Amino acid sequence: MAIRNIILEGDPILSKKCRKVEKFDDRLAQLIEDMIETMNVNNGVGLAAPQVGVLKDVVVIQVDKDKNILELINPEIIKSDGVQEEVEGCLSCPGEYGITKRPMHVKIKAMDRLGNECFYEGEGLLARAFCHEIDHLSGILFKSRTVRMLERAEIDR
Ligand code: NI
Repeated sequence: MAIRNIILEGDPILSKKCRKVEKFDDRLAQLIEDMIETMNVNNGVGLAAPQVGVLKDVVVIQVDKDKNILELINPEIIKSDGVQEEVEGCLSCPGEYGITKRPMHVKIKAMDRLGNECFYEGEGLLARAFCHEIDHLSGILFKSRTVRMLERAEIDR
């Protein structure tokens, strides 16, 4: 496994649309392993492949240290309802936080690293993480989903 560099806001890679994964091979497994290590070392809740410079539909999420790491290949939101407004940040926008409007419940369809179809449901933070990371695959950063950005004084508190 290897820690990869995280691409920061301003780099055009982060606004590109990713491609679907078609080959479920060792190279994909390596990318997933590296993304997990990179997310963990940076204390992230999730990471999308474009954040490490790979324009593929791959996401890893771990909302809680005690919970399983989710590996989502070609993820799509298939249902969402409710609404939540909570503070959100992104490893590609260090030190910046904003309040986003997101659905409270989200159902997604994805594939695992072997290409098997799988379904997940998330509520609260996990629902936000699904939306945030899947947005990255379309080149969308959380800052375009904010109701407002936090001021420095609110962050330091
Ligand atoms: Ni992000």
